[in-house]
Amino acid sequence: MDTNKKTWSGRFSEPVSELVERYTASIGFDYRLAEYDIQGSLAHAQMLAAQDIITQDDFTAIKQGLKRISDEIRDGKFEWSLQLEDVHLNIEKRLTQLIGDAGKRLHTGRSRNDQVATDIRLYLRASIDEIIALTLSMQLAIVNLAEHHTETVMPGFTHLQVAQPVSFGHHLMAYFEMLKRDVQRLSDCRKRVNQLPLGAAALAGTSYPINREHVAQLLSFEGICENSLDAVSDRDFAIEFGACAALIMTHLSRISEELILWMSPAVGFISLADRFCTGSSIMPQKKNPDVPELVRGKTGRINGHLVALLTLMKAQPLAYNKDNQEDKEPLFDTVDTLIDTLRIYTDMLSGINVNAEAMCKAAMQGFATATDLADYLVKKGIPFRDAHEVVAKSVQFAEQKGCDLDDLELGELKQFSSEIASDVFAVLTLEGSLNSRDHVGGTAPGQVRTAIKRARAWLAGNSKTNDQQQT
Ligand code: ARG
Repeated sequence: MDTNKKTWSGRFSEPVSELVERYTASIGFDYRLAEYDIQGSLAHAQMLAAQDIITQDDFTAIKQGLKRISDEIRDGKFEWSLQLEDVHLNIEKRLTQLIGDAGKRLHTGRSRNDQVATDIRLYLRASIDEIIALTLSMQLAIVNLAEHHTETVMPGFTHLQVAQPVSFGHHLMAYFEMLKRDVQRLSDCRKRVNQLPLGAAALAGTSYPINREHVAQLLSFEGICENSLDAVSDRDFAIEFGACAALIMTHLSRISEELILWMSPAVGFISLADRFCTGSSIMPQKKNPDVPELVRGKTGRINGHLVALLTLMKAQPLAYNKDNQEDKEPLFDTVDTLIDTLRIYTDMLSGINVNAEAMCKAAMQGFATATDLADYLVKKGIPFRDAHEVVAKSVQFAEQKGCDLDDLELGELKQFSSEIASDVFAVLTLEGSLNSRDHVGGTAPGQVRTAIKRARAWLAGNSKTNDQQQT
């Protein structure tokens, strides 16, 4: 095969330099689209035959040729050539080598511009389905862990200062909610990814009597891109996916930050299984939470990819420009990083060790039930702002004495308000505080159990939808 002669070089008087060839080629990364390129070509050829644009014999030959190419790629026997620039031309050249002129007819009524846009959409659609499935698995790991800890009390923080006691299960379920929105966002993004560009050809459509709906149906696209110029040029669906991914990573980075903090011996709320940690080469006592640290670190590159995609798009005139070739590496790396991260996280959460005693102790140290004392006084008829003042004074007193609020004698408390009676001690306990926040979305263990039940039902419904989409 003469790979030195470019498919498009008919009117060129000199070959490109080696550097230009390397600089403009995308085969080094877009070979990953091969499977989708073949799917797209098959559907296109089937439609061309149905429309009598190519013969049925040509279609049969194309089908057999592509099947063989697909096997060669799977078995690692396909020879990718840099001279052939990209995945599309590599496959087309090999097809022609295998089946002759029928291979050359495959590109009738099509351009690499609508071809590549189709390939990326097929790739992203499959990636989204996989990412949704993995996010659902991580959510299940969260729910399973939360279920064991509906009654485990930890200090809830604002400004990283002890604020009010919360159930550890409740705290974990906050991440379930974040990931729930992430799944919803991905499902919504999928609808806009799942539109067919083929038929747009280079930019203006084609003069052949094609049937775009037929191709869309063969490839299970929900609809077709309704403007040819837009179809080949915009990558907003990829940017949207990049934003969904950046949000998932941001959420995972937040929980990572917490795990790192909780695992510090100074806090000691949890420990991660050894297989997620590393030691230090110089300090033998150390066990470092490398995995969550890397998740936090990798969030930077996913956010970077989003910015890269946005910047790539911002100054492009209609229609296709080669700039768009730069969409692939950020996308691939976003998908790969996200998939690995979600997998590792699910496993890591299942192996987490919780030190309930340390959590409880920390909750008792920071006057976490101060708000409960204020609410107690309000219920006795004192205006909230005055109650706030009484509690502030009580906290100051306890602080000086070096104890918590519920360690104070009734007499000591009474000096700040005569309304305080012996029933106050019920609200000053951590359990009392937790149980009193007994409404939808509150931290009372009963509410957390109900939230977990809701979560399990939601997961069951969504796993089913995702499975159906993937088949
Ligand atoms: N490798 C190219 C890309 O990724 C394929 C489309 C090339 N089209 C063209 N007219 N040069 O965008």
